[in-house]
Amino acid sequence: MKKGIKVTFQPEGRVTYVLPGTTLIEAAGEIGIVLSSPCGGKGTCGKCRVVISRGAPDPTDLDRSHFTADELDRGTRLACQTRVQQEMVVNVPSQSRFFEQKVAKTATHVEVELEPVVRTQFFQLEEPTLEDQRADSDRLLTAIKRESGEPSGGCPVKLHLSVVRKLPSAVREKNFAVTAVRADGEVIDVVAGDTTGRCYGVAFDIGTTTVVGMLDCLDAERPTRVAARTNPQVRYGDDVVSRIEHAQNRENGLLNLQESIVGCLNDIVGELCEKAGINRHNVFEAVVGGNTTMTHLFLRIDPSYIARAPYVASLRNGMTCDAADLGLDIHPNAKVFTLPNIAGFVGGDTVAVILATGLLKSDGIRLAVDIGTNGEVVLAKDGRLVACSTAAGPAFEGARITFGMRAADGAIEKVVITDDVELAVIGNVPARGLCGSSLIDAVGELLRVGVIDMTGRMREPENLPESVPPLVRARVARADNGLRFILANPDETQIGGPIYLTQRDIRELQLAKGALAAGVATLMKEMGVRPSDLQEVLLAGAFGNFIRRSQAKRIGLLPGVPTERIKFVGNAAGTGARMALVSRACREEVEKISLVTRYVELAGRPDFHEAFAEAMLFPEP
Ligand code: FES
Repeated sequence: MKKGIKVTFQPEGRVTYVLPGTTLIEAAGEIGIVLSSPCGGKGTCGKCRVVISRGAPDPTDLDRSHFTADELDRGTRLACQTRVQQEMVVNVPSQSRFFEQKVAKTATHVEVELEPVVRTQFFQLEEPTLEDQRADSDRLLTAIKRESGEPSGGCPVKLHLSVVRKLPSAVREKNFAVTAVRADGEVIDVVAGDTTGRCYGVAFDIGTTTVVGMLDCLDAERPTRVAARTNPQVRYGDDVVSRIEHAQNRENGLLNLQESIVGCLNDIVGELCEKAGINRHNVFEAVVGGNTTMTHLFLRIDPSYIARAPYVASLRNGMTCDAADLGLDIHPNAKVFTLPNIAGFVGGDTVAVILATGLLKSDGIRLAVDIGTNGEVVLAKDGRLVACSTAAGPAFEGARITFGMRAADGAIEKVVITDDVELAVIGNVPARGLCGSSLIDAVGELLRVGVIDMTGRMREPENLPESVPPLVRARVARADNGLRFILANPDETQIGGPIYLTQRDIRELQLAKGALAAGVATLMKEMGVRPSDLQEVLLAGAFGNFIRRSQAKRIGLLPGVPTERIKFVGNAAGTGARMALVSRACREEVEKISLVTRYVELAGRPDFHEAFAEAMLFPEP
């Protein structure tokens, strides 16, 4: 007999048994049904709506604030606020589900010399005789010293205990032919015969939303394998602050978060090894980059102080740890290197972007913008670097937008206004919502044709400019909560109703783009740089790749530079992590980047707030 209360999730018909008091969002998560939870389960975003057809409890005040009396009667509730006290049947509509974001599954070519920290060396050792009774360990160490030209006195190389245990059989299996795997001054594995060309490393880019793993061979030229997953920590909240709160306030919160990210990395390693046709014990090193909170959570370091003024991280420098200590299932003696952070809200992922884009070493004035769940900005002027972080991401990832969603199947990805509205939808299926790029497109197009003015106000139908085509004009509709613009009619959607943009959605976009643009403006002021001085604007991050540059300029998200100076650099954070994996020189450079990049705290700066107020407006056409 199963323990706990039975909850059935429809339409899958999947059943779970949970303890009384478990929330529906947690119950669903236990059987792999991940609900959208941009607010981290605080009951404020309304994105986790479910319909309970059996066992619905009385609605809470928060339910009442989100749903109409009719909806409440039909059993509509917030999954994050509903606690299981009796058997339930729960329908999860598609809009409430968390869908995998589209992620590029190819790696960017990196132009660095292959000079990894971990390397293999093949040796044909001298066989023992009655005249030569040196121990196996001495035989190997002498060969290593001879090969590397190290002086005979004093041995800088040591053997891991597990290697000494394995050595007698390994050397005798193939007539004293062995391959040693060295990580700096330590031999971490020894294998019979010549196994060079089979030493692998994995680089991870742990994003708040998406985790990407890249597998590279460290001692031979082989294709890079890439795999990605949604960060399973999203079930504890969409943004870093919600995760920090979870770590801080929930029993075992930090442990849950750490175990969930390590489980995800282990899953990714499994897929990568399968693709490469290797065993996970052939992976001898991992490099991990992420924002400061993600790195703290991965290392199970309390991140609480990052979210409290004065926003201090516990860890800045790069850390080398044992994979086994962290639960990472690769070679048992493998090492894990986490990229250093810059500050509480600018982490190793930004360090990796700086490395991959060469900002530290380049002359001239260049700006890099990484739009993820947060928006990190770096400005480089002749090798001097300043960086800041802005709360730009949530709107671009669909949070707080009425029909907002991530760039997954069913998301409108492009909006063009001609005589009417034309849409492109990811996956060529009926639309489910709007992702960040189409939100920018929609607002850019509505600005262009005059449905929205430069303050962001949607014009009443009777006040629209005459040039607005009749079919477009007919899409401006009045509702109880103000004006809305219908982007997709019910027959074009899969949600049983229209998809529209509200006045409030436009305000959310203004807040997000205002924060990012004000961050850019503040850094430019710090360095005495004008927009026309910018030689390049580099757009990093999965989202950056989908933005249309002209629309981003039209809404004032990016500085007004000629469009050809705006360049996409793809997942530069992932590329940087790979560079640190395959190159010792890059590994040294990341530490330097983290030390020399000056972090600019925007909170409490009057000039940032002034720039923010100004950047809320849309530019003059
Ligand atoms: S309201 Fe439930 S997750 Fe936001």
